[in-house]
Amino acid sequence: MTYAEIRRRGAKRRIRYLLLILLLMSIIIFAVVKIVTGIRQRQTIPTGTGDIPVIVDASAETGENTESTELLPVIETIPISEPIISESMAVTPTVPIHRRSSEGGTLHVKQPYLYLRVGHTKQIPLILSNNVTADQVEWSTNNPDMIDIEPDGTVTGLQKGSCNVYASYGEETLEIPVTVRELITIAGCTYVDGILVANKSYALPEDYDPGLLPVTKEAFDALSLAAKGQGLNIYEGSGYRDYAFQVKCYNSMVSGYSKAYADTWSARPGHSEHQTGYTIDCNSIDNEHFADTPEGKWLAANCYKYGFIIRYPKGKEKITGYNYESWHIRYVGREHAAIIHEQDLALEEYLDIDSVYRDGDPDASLDSDLPDGMETDTDTEE
Ligand code: DAL
Ligand code: ZN
Repeated sequence: MTYAEIRRRGAKRRIRYLLLILLLMSIIIFAVVKIVTGIRQRQTIPTGTGDIPVIVDASAETGENTESTELLPVIETIPISEPIISESMAVTPTVPIHRRSSEGGTLHVKQPYLYLRVGHTKQIPLILSNNVTADQVEWSTNNPDMIDIEPDGTVTGLQKGSCNVYASYGEETLEIPVTVRELITIAGCTYVDGILVANKSYALPEDYDPGLLPVTKEAFDALSLAAKGQGLNIYEGSGYRDYAFQVKCYNSMVSGYSKAYADTWSARPGHSEHQTGYTIDCNSIDNEHFADTPEGKWLAANCYKYGFIIRYPKGKEKITGYNYESWHIRYVGREHAAIIHEQDLALEEYLDIDSVYRDGDPDASLDSDLPDGMETDTDTEE
């Protein structure tokens, strides 16, 4: 073999080594690209399809070992059959704590808050001890543009907003937060601070027909799912009712019993909250013992977390105009619901409205008397 041949063979060997190295590098680059693409794919969430991606570990499902040609988890989409909301997502909004500087002192109030409408007047009922008399108490406010306060503690709402009233005796001062609300009418519907009102005093137009609103449905689905997690079954017994349907409900009660009796259980057409799209009767409305069932108890204790209130509470019959309905819940949003629940109020008290038919028909069969400080409105806004 000549020296030239030896050099040629050496050169050919070097070229083979080079090609082999290039081939190995290509395989490595290909593998790296595939892994990175796989990771990106796992992080992509399809939007707007109504489906959610889930990563399925095929080996875990089949019980086979992991020797598979597909090393990465498989991505599948499954249809959403239930809302992805659980009890852990229920928010418990913080209710403002009312500072009572007179705790253990001389000045006390039954309710450490006041809800008042623009143009309305209320007196804050003080409870006095240590032989102090009402005329020794001085009243003031931090916002005289919002409320007018008289020397005897009578408050009149001047413009909407929040402020404080102070009752003072000597070194002692009691702070009472006041919320002044405004009632407005838009296209025949009545709103107080954005809350749509339907009760005996305020009717909805006959053609107001929104159906069960998505916000109500979503909140109710979340509530129902959380109850299910506790082994309870809360379902929609009666949801949206339009004007025409309420005509049938009310008339059937009037013909089955009497008008006076019907007025304590069933709203006259146009006056039903079911027509607002924010209301649901839970489970069987024939079940007058619903309040005593595990579902009824859970609903009363937890519905506020989902933005609902028990609309016609026990003991507030003369205020709401209806008997206690443990199954009838009304969506008002989580913030309002938390306060109403915490302060044990009827919506009428919270919004400072009344609930009375203006035709003068008495609600003779309602059980409870009006509590202290609750008076019938003299509104004519309907
Ligand atoms: N049961 C309630 C008052 C309604 O009929 O709307
Ligand atoms: Zn109802």
